Amino acid sequence: MMSYGYDPKLSEGAIKPPIFQTSTFVFESAEAGKAFFEVAYGLREKGPDEKLGLIYSRLNNPDLEVLEDRLTLWDGAEAAAAFESGMAAIATCLLTFVRPGDAVVHSEPLYGGSEYLLRVILPEFGIHPVAFPAGVPAREVEAAIKEGAEGHPVTAGLIETPANPTNALVDIEGIADILKGMAPSDKPPVVMVDNTFLGPLWQHPLEHGADLVLYSATKFLGGHSDIIAGACLGSAELVGRVKVLRTFMGTMAGPWTGWLLMRSLETLKMRMTAQMKNARYVSDFLSDHPRVRRVYHLDMLDKEDPMYPVFRKQCEAAGSVIAFEVEDGEAGAFRFLNALQLAKLAVSLGGTESLAEHPGTMTHADIPPEDQKRMGITPGMVRLSVGVEHYEDILADLEQALAAV
Ligand SMILES: Cc1ncc(COP(=O)(O)O)c(C=O)c1O
Repeated sequence: MMSYGYDPKLSEGAIKPPIFQTSTFVFESAEAGKAFFEVAYGLREKGPDEKLGLIYSRLNNPDLEVLEDRLTLWDGAEAAAAFESGMAAIATCLLTFVRPGDAVVHSEPLYGGSEYLLRVILPEFGIHPVAFPAGVPAREVEAAIKEGAEGHPVTAGLIETPANPTNALVDIEGIADILKGMAPSDKPPVVMVDNTFLGPLWQHPLEHGADLVLYSATKFLGGHSDIIAGACLGSAELVGRVKVLRTFMGTMAGPWTGWLLMRSLETLKMRMTAQMKNARYVSDFLSDHPRVRRVYHLDMLDKEDPMYPVFRKQCEAAGSVIAFEVEDGEAGAFRFLNALQLAKLAVSLGGTESLAEHPGTMTHADIPPEDQKRMGITPGMVRLSVGVEHYEDILADLEQALAAV
């Protein structure tokens, strides 16, 4: 993450890639400009040693190119595309592969924004969402998926695992097999996994049958709660198609965002490891607390739970986002949130500081109450993103705030 994909010689010896804060790039000649466009717009194949020339920052920019090369390493992907938000990544990827009349099969719950996109916005374009519950073995949802998609070709799947906010798991391989079996082999659906909660350290969906990995890079990848960004990774062929739509929708990240993400990637492993270790203390503490009814964290997954084998197969650690239910529903949750002193009451997650929020009325507020209930989002549920503070400070804060419940 310190040097990959960057040659200081091309930037006056600067140890770090400078911020290429420029909208456009000067061509050496008209012929060079023409050649760059031919490649960028797919008018001819690239020559054996030819690279995509720098044209205009909506198409490419050195900060994005180096960032994208570095991002591929974590997930073992051929290619990556960076976006100005996680939602930009998700929307651009879905719109690349689905067309009116198609079905998109998705797990639920999803992050509230993704859920709204699928439930409300895409149907306005004739796209048919088919939901299946997370936290259930793939074979148990197969019949419902097939019934829900009846009459619509399935061209994409969107899996969020672990799910925001419940940490419910989806068996990526199991669902990918079902979806691929539902389409002709020459037109397989593109299976996308939103890996925001565990990736890119603790889960690698491309190894389990996913075609594209999506991120809200606002979260762990950015890690300092100071940028909004997104990413998508996968084969050069699929990411290339996504980049075509990114160019024409203009959803790419800017150079500043790219530069900040590169800075963040240097400490990603240290931050995520520290957060994961802290979260173990926190979920242990919450599980033993008399005012906490239930803790949703993968470290707490019962060995008898049907999803336990999926956890062992698919995840390398439980991550650092914990949901838990306090007594007395929304009123209890609000008393807890209002009493926090160290952890901040804010949406988002994955930053260095601990953040807590109330999914039912905040991140997932646009999901109707009866649907929230079905998805396991309860009025007493709090979502906590554990930061890098000293774990004893976090526990002391939780202890005093739980006393207010
Ligand atoms: C799992 C997940 N996916 C996607 C998003 C959307 O990302 P962004 O806010 O960067 O657009 C979020 C945001 O909270 C998220 O939690």
